[in-house]
Amino acid sequence: MNILRPKGLKIITVFPYFYAKPDNPMPYENILVEPQHAPHIALIRLNRPKELNALNLQLMQELRNALKSLDADEDVRVIVLTGNERAFAAGADIKEMAGRTAIDMLKIDQFSTWDQIKKTKKPLIAAVSGFALGGGCELAMTCDMIIASETAQFGQPEIKIGVMPGAGGTQRLTRAVGKALAMEIVLTGRFINAEEALKAGLINRIVPAEIYLAEAIKFANQIAQMSPLATQLAKESVLRSYDGSLEEGLLYERKNFYMLFASEDQKEGMNAFVEKRNPEFKGK
Ligand code: HXC
Repeated sequence: MNILRPKGLKIITVFPYFYAKPDNPMPYENILVEPQHAPHIALIRLNRPKELNALNLQLMQELRNALKSLDADEDVRVIVLTGNERAFAAGADIKEMAGRTAIDMLKIDQFSTWDQIKKTKKPLIAAVSGFALGGGCELAMTCDMIIASETAQFGQPEIKIGVMPGAGGTQRLTRAVGKALAMEIVLTGRFINAEEALKAGLINRIVPAEIYLAEAIKFANQIAQMSPLATQLAKESVLRSYDGSLEEGLLYERKNFYMLFASEDQKEGMNAFVEKRNPEFKGK
């Protein structure tokens, strides 16, 4: 197998994550894609380690493109999405969002990318180590199953920077863990550890930190042994049972998220983060 580095298409052999199929010359700068990490199992690694894999617009577009291409690849049956040991993803990129207005947010329409990710037909397994916060937690919840390292921490800390979850957090978290805990996580920004997440039904299993990715691949391999057709239809059916009014909920959440960008508190919260100080919220 030729391993191609999309940027410049240099052949490399030591680091097989930079891979592009000839029909998919998209250069990925923020993710590493390995379509055949194991037989029938593709691996996508979020790769902005210095920013704790903060999900900027470009990363999300690359992820959408990679998933679309892997979904169309007949050799791939299961897709594993991971970050690194320190962070799955610490949320949407606050530095990128901080200065935006509500109208900017509406026009950029970043969630259309998320909508397409949600349509991935093949099973998508999140292998989470470290932080899965804000958009990072929402991305893990958009996957079909979550395998967590014992170091994993989940949370929706948007409230601390003057906004709220915008990529499904208020809807999917509530469905996964129930109203009481979801309310607490969303309104206080408290992180929950892997143990609590397992007890609450947010994740499938906890595995030792050193082998979390290997275990996720093993788990993916179990699913890859099944009929790919039955697998896809079964996935679709489970999602149907849970999707009921998810669309409506997501739209409602989205409008509220955009609206918060009209507030001074959003500017204060995000600027305070960037400037490394505590925010002073005024309710304006
Ligand atoms: C941009 C981020 C970031 C983020 C971390 N970084 N999270 N940059 N957006 N979401 C950057 C930091 O600024 C810092 O860069 C570097 O990553 C390392 O982070 P530290 O804060 O120094 O690390 P640590 O002290 O270990 O704290 C880890 C942390 C903290 C607890 C995860 O970084 C944190 O609170 N991050 C923000 C979490 C958050 O609020 N997420 C929700 C975002 S809103 P420098 O350059 O200073 O070294 C959201 C909306 C979702 O997700 C809806 C839309 C998709």
